[in-house]
This record gives sequence, structure tokens and C-alpha cells, in this order.
Amino acid sequence: MATLVVLKPFRICPRWPLKNPKDSLSTVSIYKILKIKTTTIDLLKFFKNLYNKCISKIQIMINKQQLSKIGIGTWGVGGFMEPDPKNDDEKQINAIVYSLNKGINYVGTVYMYAKGKAVDLLSKAVKKSKIAREKIFITFSVYKSDAKTIQEVEERLDSFLKTFDMGYVDSLQFTMGLVDDIGLELVKKFVDRLIEQGKTRYTSLANSNLDYLKKYHLAFGKKLFAHEGCFNFEVRENEILGITDYAQQNGILNVVYQPLRRNRTAARNWSLLVELAKKYGRTQNQILLNWVVSKGFFPLVKSSTKEHIDENLASFSFQIDDDDLKKLNEFKIPNYQSPKIDWFGTGEGVAIHQIPNIFDKEYEKQNKKL
Ligand SMILES: NC(=O)c1ccc[n+]([C@@H]2O[C@H](COP(=O)([O-])OP(=O)(O)OC[C@H]3O[C@@H](n4cnc5c(N)ncnc54)[C@H](OP(=O)(O)O)[C@@H]3O)[C@@H](O)[C@H]2O)c1
Repeated sequence: MATLVVLKPFRICPRWPLKNPKDSLSTVSIYKILKIKTTTIDLLKFFKNLYNKCISKIQIMINKQQLSKIGIGTWGVGGFMEPDPKNDDEKQINAIVYSLNKGINYVGTVYMYAKGKAVDLLSKAVKKSKIAREKIFITFSVYKSDAKTIQEVEERLDSFLKTFDMGYVDSLQFTMGLVDDIGLELVKKFVDRLIEQGKTRYTSLANSNLDYLKKYHLAFGKKLFAHEGCFNFEVRENEILGITDYAQQNGILNVVYQPLRRNRTAARNWSLLVELAKKYGRTQNQILLNWVVSKGFFPLVKSSTKEHIDENLASFSFQIDDDDLKKLNEFKIPNYQSPKIDWFGTGEGVAIHQIPNIFDKEYEKQNKKL
């Protein structure tokens, strides 16, 4: 049976008293003949409810102010460049569930990690945690190795949404290299459409130089959520080049990766870190995370070990004195010249994301020469 929706504030003709359209004999008989079921909708009430629903959804969706102190990284989840057949999937899923349940509410991933296995395990963990979708900020990145065209980016996003069984990501993140390959104008049109369709709330940019970050910011304004760049005790290029400052001054979140340089910073036992760890009765990694957060940065940390997760979360239960923060801020690696950055993959210099990985070798090389 068809349903005729009668809108309450609209009166079609005087013979149609819409308080209860069924009261009118003539309309009832017409409905009967046409086999039409009627229902009355109070338009005002309808729009009020719709508005309230939207507002409450917006209010519970996470924003910068509600983010935890650190986010969950996924490099090494399910494998590295390739999926690891011997990987302990269960342990990694449970570690992410544990982190989410401990209140870490930001996750970031990309298909490139373990050829999609990181995405798969992360989605299983998010589902297993039973935490409401709106309570987790999900950044989905697309790298050059994942997509070459807008169409491919959209295919990646759609398959990500399907895997997670959800309607939107919080931020769709591009690397600067990919934006440059596709063209900023096309990316802008595409992301604007996705925002309009509700498939993403924001966009973010990763591994950008200062000029490109400014261009991207000009294009997207408040819809640019974050810049993801490398920052740790030894690798401070993003700060030295004014990238983190620009982001901070313009309300763009500085998401920083390799904040612990995969535990290689602590392994070097820099005397300042050893001294501060002793002074505060904390581990070097806790000093590092506390310091990074004191700068207003948002560290992404990957950990599949419960003890490490607890240790990392406890990094914020103490305060480092201003004098010590100053020392940490002003520390410079002795006898070390940072390599030239290859921003656009020309082969001249080192890609920014590789600098933390070559640091130890480069440092040893430069110090042997002395
Ligand atoms: N945009 C980019 O180009 C880019 C580049 C690199 C990374 N990222 C993202 O940023 C995330 C974080 O960076 P990352 O994973 O490379 O480096 P990281 O977070 O500095 O270090 C992760 C490594 O450190 C170990 N770890 C964590 N907490 C520890 C602790 N308290 N004590 C000792 N070891 C600890 C982890 O082992 P356990 O698992 O055993 O705890 C893991 O091996 C990545 O996972 C990825 O999502 C982005």
C-alpha cells in the first residue's frame, strides 16, 4: 500500500482539515479507493528533531580539544613493508584495544603498511573495542605508492570505509608528494566534495615543506586538521624550518611521528636524557614524550607491548621544570650536520621520513671523521 505523507503546516484546500486528514469523509473515501495510507508529519517538529540529531552528532565527534595526549601509530602492525606471516595478529589487535580502552582516541594508518594488513588489524581492533565511532579520531592516509589519481584515492578511501564498516573518516591525509603529483586544484575539488558528502570531516597533509603547507592551508583553511611530520630529540628539521611554528600559529595540529625514534634515541643514552630520567625517576622515553607534548605537539606512538603502552601513558603524570624543558629545547647534537632534505623525490638528498632512520649511521660517519 502506498503512503501519502501529509505535511501539517500546509493546507491544500479548505476541505482538507489536516489535523487529522482521516476525519474528512471525502478524503477518507478517496484514500480508500486509491488504497492510500495517510500519515501526518509536523514539519516544524520534523526539522527540529533533525537539527537536534545533527547538532548532537557534531558535538560528540572528537575535535582537537578532546584528543588524548598521544595517538596510536601503526607502522609495524601486521608486518612492515610486507605482511609478516609470523606476525602475532591477536597480540597486536589486543594492544590496540587496550590503548583505545585506556583513552587513546586517535589512530592513523595507511594501506602501504604491510600491504593493507595494518588497516585490517586496526579495523578489527576498533570493532573489538566497542568504542563508539564518534569517540575515535581516524586519520586515513594515502601515499604515492597507494594511489596515483583522484579516482584511485577514492577507491582506497571507499575500501577503507568498507573494511571499517563506517561512513566517514575524520581526516583524509595526503602526502605533499601525492598532492604535487595529482595537482592541488584537483585535490581541493575532490576533498571539498568528500566533505560535502560527509565522507571525511577534514584533510591533513604529511611530510610537507613550509611553502606547500602554506598553499594547502590557503586552499583548505579551517578544514586542514593537521600536518604530520617527523620530530624527535635528534631530528628537528620540521621545527628548524619553521613548519611546526607555522602550523601552531594557524591552528593546524602538529602530529609528530617517530617521537621515540623507535626506541633508538633512548638506546643512545644522551647524557641530558640519562640525567633527566634519573632526576625525575622516569624512563628516557617518558622524558621524551612529556617534552614533545609540552611543546604542543601530538606524538603518534606505535606500541604493541602493554608495558610500553602503560609507560607511555604515564609520561604525563609528572611535570618537567622549565629550566629542564629549556635544556631539552636547546639541545643540539654535537658534531652533527643534518643531511639535505629531498622534498620531491629528485634523488638529491634524503627524504624527510628517512632522516630518523639514517641518523645513527650518519652520526657515526660524521663523528669518525673528526
Ligand atoms: N607520515 C610518515 O611518513 C610516517 C613515518 C613514520 C611513522 N609514521 C607514523 O607514526 C607512528 C609512530 O612512529 P614509529 O612507529 O615509526 O616510531 P615510534 O612510535 O617512535 O616507535 C615505535 C617503536 O618503539 C617501541 N616502543 C614504543 N614505546 C616504547 C617504550 N616505552 N619503550 C621502549 N620501546 C617502545 C615500539 O615497540 P613495541 O611495539 O614493542 O612497544 C616500536 O617498535 C607510526 O607507527 C606510523 O603510524 C608516519
